[in-house]
Amino acid sequence: RVRAVIIAIDGPAASGKGTLARKLADHFGLPHLDTGLLYRATARALIDAGERLDDAASAVAAARGLALTEFDEARLRGRAMGEAASVVAAIPAVRATLAAAQRGFALRPEGAVLDGRDIGTVICPEADVKIFVTASPQTRAQRRALELAGRDEPADYAAILEDIRIRDERDSTRAIAPLRAAPDAHALDTTALDVEGAFAAALRFVPAGRR
Ligand code: CDP
Ligand code: CDP
Repeated sequence: RVRAVIIAIDGPAASGKGTLARKLADHFGLPHLDTGLLYRATARALIDAGERLDDAASAVAAARGLALTEFDEARLRGRAMGEAASVVAAIPAVRATLAAAQRGFALRPEGAVLDGRDIGTVICPEADVKIFVTASPQTRAQRRALELAGRDEPADYAAILEDIRIRDERDSTRAIAPLRAAPDAHALDTTALDVEGAFAAALRFVPAGRR
């Protein structure tokens, strides 16, 4: 590689951005940060402390207290925590606190892959490769239902589809860093693609000299 590559991947819930980000990171030997975990862990800390999710001061303190590497994913991946994360994610001071940690990760000398909602627009506008991953809400709900069934969480398709609709709406209409494709992002619709198909399509977005 010529110089360290930054790959920014954004998209709505269960579009497949996390799976794609992990595969690209493995392929290129780059460190990966799932930035959704930061918002989920902030929400978890507030709930554990009995604080309100919309209390900005407590939320900032919770965000400051996170250690970037130590996530108990089993306690963060559930449905309720995705919903709670999107509430704290709308607080500007929380985003500012978490942005610093994400920037630090992205600017590592070895390069990085980050996935989230605002990586290509806010966190890393200078990323070398930006991918905006989408899939139909029905496909995303089916994927999430399968995942939750594997985690032994009640996985009612209609309720999950409704969760996805509410979270898409909140994430795309918030005043700060809304879910949005960067103007220079490559669009990747994974509705009809399996994991390998999405990976193959994404590889084509990486300039030949950097593959
Ligand atoms: O990170 P995000 O919420 O966007 O989605 P994910 O956790 O990467 O993917 C949700 C589920 O969809 C996982 O179980 C994947 O195996 C599956 N999937 C995918 O990621 N990509 C496809 N093209 C098809 C399915
Ligand atoms: O995997 P899934 O897409 O369901 O959720 P996630 O990526 O873990 O993100 C959970 C929530 O955190 C999202 O609904 C967003 O509200 C928020 N988030 C954000 O605002 N900005 C990011 N860079 C990542 C997540």
